[in-house]
Amino acid sequence: MSKSYNIAVIGGDGTGPEVTREAVKVLQASARKFNFKLNLTDYDFGGKRYLKTGEVLPANASDEMRKHDAILLGAIGHPDVKPGILEKGILLKLRFDLDQYINLRPVKLYPGVECPLKGKGPAEIDYVVVRENSGDAYTGTGGITMKGTPHEVAVQSSVYSRFQVDRCLRYAFELTRKRNKKKTLALCGKTNVLTFIYDLWERAFHEMGERDYKDIKREYYHVDATCMWMVKNPEWFDVIVTGNLFGDIITDLGAITQGGMGIAAGGNINPEGVSMFEPIGGSAPKYTGQNVINPLATINAASMMLDFLGEKKAAQDVENAIIKALAS
Ligand code: IPM
Ligand code: MN
Repeated sequence: MSKSYNIAVIGGDGTGPEVTREAVKVLQASARKFNFKLNLTDYDFGGKRYLKTGEVLPANASDEMRKHDAILLGAIGHPDVKPGILEKGILLKLRFDLDQYINLRPVKLYPGVECPLKGKGPAEIDYVVVRENSGDAYTGTGGITMKGTPHEVAVQSSVYSRFQVDRCLRYAFELTRKRNKKKTLALCGKTNVLTFIYDLWERAFHEMGERDYKDIKREYYHVDATCMWMVKNPEWFDVIVTGNLFGDIITDLGAITQGGMGIAAGGNINPEGVSMFEPIGGSAPKYTGQNVINPLATINAASMMLDFLGEKKAAQDVENAIIKALAS
């Protein structure tokens, strides 16, 4: 019997729905070719719905998402909505509610794609960033006091528990082993300044590596140096693991080295639950309806989704199609 998957599709805002539409076409073609079934359900979460109803997400949205095998997301962000409302209320809320504690972001340069780095090609740019996705400055811990006065104070804390760090490191070590390339896991931190947060990360990293992953080489880079080496010597990297905020920043840098937002995709992963796949770019509202935004990033996200669902052949086939399209 062929397998069947329930997929929630959130096109979102701006150009999100149009790139998602192309990815859905690819998914449907892939289902026919590899003989599995897809039950796709559209959800209208996004800025338009918020402006109409005043509600960022329906109260049962996360439960509704839990009924699916995976989620495909276009982009969230509307020019008429103040920054932060939709991002926090939809994207981050789903990531947190569904405990998608890994943000997996491959940085892979495909042949035929222009790379802004001199002398670097597909052989040099092929690594994965494991961005922790549940903690750090993203938790909303902090606040503003005396707001609007000359003495106002803002605090926004980076928060990590050993549990969060350990589960992320575990995932990263396992991935490094599974990739079976350079067998090198690099921790990206800032142990010279963030002496609490990245002290915890660094100790946990070496303890786990020493105990369970003797076959994996461990490296450490400060985040600023990581940025430098991602440009100068990207071939050094195999898997990079880091906190949520550094991961956000370095994956935009990584994305531009692989051809930009038109290509880069990521997965918000809960290895034991429902995961959500998305192009890492935004909603690019001024281009809405023009069909000029490259849908390959979303198609790439769909390929990651297939891989995660266990449809390995289909996932590889879609990636091959992307490679073929780019090379031509
Ligand atoms: C990303 C985005 C989000 C993030 C924003 C839109 C909240 O930049 O997915 O990288 O910071 O995680
Ligand atoms: Mn980002």
